[in-house]
Amino acid sequence: MMSFTKEETIKLLGRIEDLALISEQEDGLTRLFLTKEHRLAAEKVAGWMTEAGMDSHIDAVGNVVGRYEGSQPGLPCLMLGSHLDSVRNAGKFDGPLGVLAPLACIEKIHSSGHQLPFAIEILGFGDEEGVRFPSVLMGSRAVAGTFNYDVLELTDKEEISVGQAMRDFGLDLSKIGTAAYKSDDVLAYVEFHIEQGPVLESEELPVGVVSAINGQNRFVVEILGIPGHAGTVPMNLRRDALSAAAECILVIEKICNDDTELVGTVGSITAKPGIGNAIAGNVEFNIDIRGPDDAKRLSAIDEIKYLMGDVCKRRDLLIDMKMTFESDSCPCAPFLMDQLESALISHDLPVRRLPSGAGHDGMAMIDLTNIAMLFLRCEKGISHNPAESVTLEDVRIGVSVLKEFIENFKPA
Ligand code: HGY
Ligand code: MN
Ligand code: MN
Repeated sequence: MMSFTKEETIKLLGRIEDLALISEQEDGLTRLFLTKEHRLAAEKVAGWMTEAGMDSHIDAVGNVVGRYEGSQPGLPCLMLGSHLDSVRNAGKFDGPLGVLAPLACIEKIHSSGHQLPFAIEILGFGDEEGVRFPSVLMGSRAVAGTFNYDVLELTDKEEISVGQAMRDFGLDLSKIGTAAYKSDDVLAYVEFHIEQGPVLESEELPVGVVSAINGQNRFVVEILGIPGHAGTVPMNLRRDALSAAAECILVIEKICNDDTELVGTVGSITAKPGIGNAIAGNVEFNIDIRGPDDAKRLSAIDEIKYLMGDVCKRRDLLIDMKMTFESDSCPCAPFLMDQLESALISHDLPVRRLPSGAGHDGMAMIDLTNIAMLFLRCEKGISHNPAESVTLEDVRIGVSVLKEFIENFKPA
């Protein structure tokens, strides 16, 4: 029997809509780490947490944290959550669903007076997407106690450093360590998230249990050639960085095409001087490579590095490839997957385990505690796009399953 009513689900979806209005973008959703939109969203969520009977605060790196005590104060917590930052021109559900759905569960648990034998903490992480700065998971890494202080020097497109942005946000850099949890204080981390892929929809399933978060490596590549006039430099005398980049991008596509489990993406590229009648002398592009098998992913990266080096050597250009992020494949804990599946079964839902091709805060949280994820079907698997959407009925099913899992959670 679904514990959430249609009206309660409409309220949850209404909050997701409200949050989506907090954006730097007039005609869509863009909410980046440590911006004023981030603070407004964090404060709004903190207010909803307080209304639901939680103690809430914004931690030393900008995450919003809500705590709901168990049958006695100070118990270790089951941690739930997701991220409040977005990509540019984002969908509404990637992140906020995983913060507001558990919050709706706590609201119902609180109003029923049911006391749990553990505390619940809900986190709204500030930096999962890593769009503003060339780093990711800064919020969840601080919570996991693995914050890399080198990132404080990284700068955004306006040359503002992470450290400066934190100060502007009102944070005290000397307190970053206070965001970290002790592993004894956290029983598990479970995230509810849209699948961002087509599998559940293709199998007509509303929800699924994640088996692992695929490993990923991200790089920034710079190719240096010689700029020149588009009309005067003969082809055989050119050192065209943009043509070389194009050849490199096809190398990446070919290597990943040759392995069914690997995905490789070049999603952004900039060419300088970047005008139509000039040969590009400097090109920078990002590479994102993912796959479940760490050894295969790393050997594909070695091959890509070698072949791109060959392209640039042949063209007499320089290439520099810096890794900006690496995460091994993160397995979800069997005891948590089993308990999520029991919650599905108690709702007469089929059980389906599937890997996550998308990255999540669980990649950082696995350094602190056991992780698991519950996926929700999203239309055509579209995400990182305003067309991202879910159905009311699926959300009602998903949040009811999540509440069932919470109320029956047993620590390892
Ligand atoms: O890129 C990802 O996989 C995630 O959405 N940040
Ligand atoms: Mn996400
Ligand atoms: Mn995302």
